[in-house]
Amino acid sequence: MLDLAPDRASLDPIEIASRDEIAALQLERMKWSLAHAYNNVPFYKSAFEAAGVHPDDLTSLDDLKRFPFTRKSDLRDHYPFGLFAVPREKVARIHGSSGTTGRPTVVGYTKRDIETWASVMARSIRASGGRPGDMVHVAYGYGLFTGGLGAHYGAEALGCTVVPMSGGMTERQIQLIGDFKPDVIMVTPSYMLAILDHFRAEGLDPRETSLKVGIFGAEPWTNAMRAEIEEAFDMHAVDIYGLSEVMGPGVANECVETKDGLHIWEDHFYPEVIDPASGAPVADGELGELVFTSLTKEALPVIRYRTGDLTRLSPGTARSMRRMEKITGRADDMLIIRGVNVFPTQIEEQILKLEALAPHYLIEVHREGRLDTLTVHVECRGAEASGPIRDAAGRALDVAVKNTVGISIRTRVVDPGAIERSMGKAKRVVDHRPKD
Ligand code: DLL
Repeated sequence: MLDLAPDRASLDPIEIASRDEIAALQLERMKWSLAHAYNNVPFYKSAFEAAGVHPDDLTSLDDLKRFPFTRKSDLRDHYPFGLFAVPREKVARIHGSSGTTGRPTVVGYTKRDIETWASVMARSIRASGGRPGDMVHVAYGYGLFTGGLGAHYGAEALGCTVVPMSGGMTERQIQLIGDFKPDVIMVTPSYMLAILDHFRAEGLDPRETSLKVGIFGAEPWTNAMRAEIEEAFDMHAVDIYGLSEVMGPGVANECVETKDGLHIWEDHFYPEVIDPASGAPVADGELGELVFTSLTKEALPVIRYRTGDLTRLSPGTARSMRRMEKITGRADDMLIIRGVNVFPTQIEEQILKLEALAPHYLIEVHREGRLDTLTVHVECRGAEASGPIRDAAGRALDVAVKNTVGISIRTRVVDPGAIERSMGKAKRVVDHRPKD
């Protein structure tokens, strides 16, 4: 793979500033953001008052922990525009999160917010190995989902040529990758696997494409999946993180030269990691729930927003800004099977270690009597794999999961193509247990 580390001179100076400079900027911006939320959003004013705090009480970054959390339910309760801090006429764009049930979560951006977002996305694409002049194929969905338009504006801001392909029409994706010869693709990792299937089905060698780097996010994916994609396409696979409430994609991104977790663009998004049960901040390096305070957002400031995502913070490496570990999952994706906590990514990791199995899987949870059972449906590699090979691979997965995760599962090895492909975020779990 090519060395795509960006030239230090091309970075935004703040990416490699001293920690003191970053902290000073954060404090100044945090004071502004708290006052902006308090003065313009009645919800924040009453939440701060109920907690007995005022924006003037913040004299150090550490004081942030005295302020109350904001949750997704607060956005829902003020649906659609109740948490906006600017008049609706000043809102240049609306996006929404995909919420499968009930009211969607609505978010808004001023013109300046859109520029900020484009700048952090441009930074993310550059950190991933993209350059001005590169062609960027965007296969994240366009629409209310922030993936497509977020990537689009960022690639334009960096000075790239954008192909606004959106998700779906997989054959057309393959054709345009072949004809236009993009350098960069931006897509969910699970849809990249569907694209890979099509390359193979058409007898094309995915290693021969022009692609140098893929920027993958919007769903959890493992380092084992990274290795799979990098090998299949002979390109770098880099992780991008974000969420609509905080901005969209481009809140944090890996650097292609280290691929050691995602640098959080801390000049705009202030991270904390807390114990999800007590709400107390945990030390750097410890696993907990990621919380963000926006430092520059105008239309929808968020103060101590609980993301539900589990990770740990660590010091910067390729940049001065702190890193978050690749996300294992969301607190609400965690399955509790006979008392053991299980994330789908833990099963993915084991699947990818077995030669005979492909990275397409679906987990089903049932309740039989009083026991919860977990069945993993996973494809074999190659339709020609014989019955005994499939059986052996299924047993090997049962054993691997038992040894690493600590639960007994049932594996069903199915034909290539039998698991439904996603065009955006993959659905990995179907839970048939009665809701209590
Ligand atoms: O998924 C924004 C995005 C688009 C990020 C494209 C990256 C690329 P939402 O639809 O609001 O926004 O979903 C946000 O997706 O809280 C995480 O649970 C999950 N997520 C996003 N990126 C990653 C990632 C977009 N790199 C929710 N790894 C977040 C793991 C991710 N989970």
